[in-house]
Amino acid sequence: MLHLICTGFQVAVISRDESRLEKLRQFLSPSACDRLHTFVGDVGSEEGAEVAKGALLKAVGQVTDVVSSLGFSWWQGGPPLSQTLQELHRVLDTLLLSTFTAWKAFFPLVKDNPEGSYTFITGGAGERLLMPGTGFLTLGAAGALAFALMVREEYPDVPCKLNEVKINMGVTTPERLGPGYVSHLEVGQAVASLVEKRAVSHRVLSAASPADLKALASQGKI
Ligand SMILES: NC(=O)c1ccc[n+]([C@@H]2O[C@H](COP(=O)([O-])OP(=O)(O)OC[C@H]3O[C@@H](n4cnc5c(N)ncnc54)[C@H](OP(=O)(O)O)[C@@H]3O)[C@@H](O)[C@H]2O)c1
Repeated sequence: MLHLICTGFQVAVISRDESRLEKLRQFLSPSACDRLHTFVGDVGSEEGAEVAKGALLKAVGQVTDVVSSLGFSWWQGGPPLSQTLQELHRVLDTLLLSTFTAWKAFFPLVKDNPEGSYTFITGGAGERLLMPGTGFLTLGAAGALAFALMVREEYPDVPCKLNEVKINMGVTTPERLGPGYVSHLEVGQAVASLVEKRAVSHRVLSAASPADLKALASQGKI
């Protein structure tokens, strides 16, 4: 997001939590904040997503690019026999169903624009159990992977750039980096470059190493 702002984009961020939006504004310089629009909203229902879209369009007029990075980064509640159906609903709501409701509201804004894009951010947790007790994370993340695949195949001819960035590593802040992790700033730079360069469409850009992210950042593809 920071990188998109630095490239000259006006960027809008929607969150359910005003304090997180305030934290984001504190993180950015005052000049960057001039190009940031923040909205408190819940895109996890069709009605909520429509309300958020209305507020966004009223404030900025037009949307060219959407990055969908919904959900939560981690869930480790334990093995499935110890879980409830209610918890599975919660996980699927967060990782899969909100991805659908947000997409249903925002995809129509960009899909017919050859200069537009829709990008899903997904993770490798959908392909394997990351460690014991993360089973529901695998279910939710797998739903998000399948959703992005379905959209690519259901809409093969849309002129907008429709892509998925699948991050097969942990993402964290630069101070907390360790083996198997990449910085959120590197991920942001790579996604910004994909959006800005518009080099590919209907692709899964799988990033399994910092080198993959560097390639994406410099070429807009891997
Ligand atoms: N973090 C990692 O290590 C990692 C690694 C690989 C892949 N990924 C992938 O990255 C994607 C996002 O994960 P993340 O780590 O960025 O999680 P995150 O830091 O928890 O961010 C998820 C965002 O989704 C928003 N959100 C969720 N439901 C919403 C709703 N109903 N309405 C509005 N906003 C909503 C949250 O906003 P609020 O809660 O503020 O409303 C939050 O800003 C996932 O697909 C994940 O698989 C993450």
